[in-house]
Amino acid sequence: MRDVPDDQPGIERPPGGGGPDGRRPGLRPTRISTLIVCALGTAAIAWVGMGRFFGYIPDITWLAGLTLAGLAVVEAITAHNTRARIEHRPRAGAVNPLLVARLAVLAKASSLAGAIFAGAYGGVAAWALCHLFSGRGAYLHFGAMLGVVMVLNVYFVIIPGQKELVKAKQEGRTPDPRFGLMGRQRSVHNTYFTLPVLFTMISNHYAGLYGHEWNWVLLILISVAGALIRVWFVQRHKGNENPLVLAAGLVVLAITALLSLPRPAVDIGPPVPFIEVQQIFKERCQPCHATKPTQEGFAAPPKGVILETEAEIRARAAMINQQVWASRVMPPGNLTHITDEERRLIARWFKGSAK
Ligand code: HEC
Repeated sequence: MRDVPDDQPGIERPPGGGGPDGRRPGLRPTRISTLIVCALGTAAIAWVGMGRFFGYIPDITWLAGLTLAGLAVVEAITAHNTRARIEHRPRAGAVNPLLVARLAVLAKASSLAGAIFAGAYGGVAAWALCHLFSGRGAYLHFGAMLGVVMVLNVYFVIIPGQKELVKAKQEGRTPDPRFGLMGRQRSVHNTYFTLPVLFTMISNHYAGLYGHEWNWVLLILISVAGALIRVWFVQRHKGNENPLVLAAGLVVLAITALLSLPRPAVDIGPPVPFIEVQQIFKERCQPCHATKPTQEGFAAPPKGVILETEAEIRARAAMINQQVWASRVMPPGNLTHITDEERRLIARWFKGSAK
């Protein structure tokens, strides 16, 4: 939210203006950078706090959320009406300077409160994505969150702006430039989200990325690279592309590729016979990969993969090693709580069986 700029026409100021030091006393617009720093700060505190004090998502009463939402709606309506009055729009009523001053203070306080809450929710969301979901789920949810922002931008800002344009044309007046400017700003935001969202939509296929122990770093890097490359696209459409921007995007992508290279082979120990891993398959895999799965929600073995007899398991040894040891994708979300030691045993069995 912005408060009233100093040179706003229509606001009475005492002649001469200015305090003893020659500066005009009074409120200045809250800087965007202040809000961003506040939001990032609370996000960091929320992240650390979640891990230290909760370790799970605490219950939040509906009342808290509804109160905030109610306050936001009331403030949005008040802001809209006050602006209409300041701009002397038809049917808007008279300005009450004292009221405007009070509202400006409220607006400044609210913008700070908004930044703090947005940061806190963002921090909790980031923590939950990394700790409650598998890498695959976290990537998809990250994409869904960006997607929701994009849809809201279109629904609440861009489309109403277009409608205003059409309406102004029909009524034969010049359209309010504010809508055009806001629509443009949101389109730019959406533009930068495009490639990261597209990536998360297909990220399911890249177990090497979402299954990596640094999956969150890789996701951030790919998002940054996507935004940079998109910036270059936009510049190119305007005919003033800067090759450095494209180069920066590609360099970030190359760094991502290097980071996600398979780790050098570690010494996992000598091969083990099947008898040592039989029980692991029974406990960790067969709840799903059986003729009649016992895991809730699985009516049939996923992808038809049955891992009950030694012959069935041996036939898929390479794929199993890939899924359990190399990419750590199975069991999904580690639903059956396989341990690292068990994963390593399966890799050692594979080492022997491949010979
Ligand atoms: C909670 C259920 C569940 C458990 C437990 C589970 N899997 Fe799976 N598995 C799945 C699902 C679902 C798929 C299909 C994934 C897909 O379509 O991408 C799958 C697919 C597979 C595939 C085929 C992959 C492919 O790309 O074709 C293999 C191999 C596999 N699992 C091995 C294992 C092994 C080994 C274990 C035990 C360490 C295990 N799974 C535990 C649910 C499970």
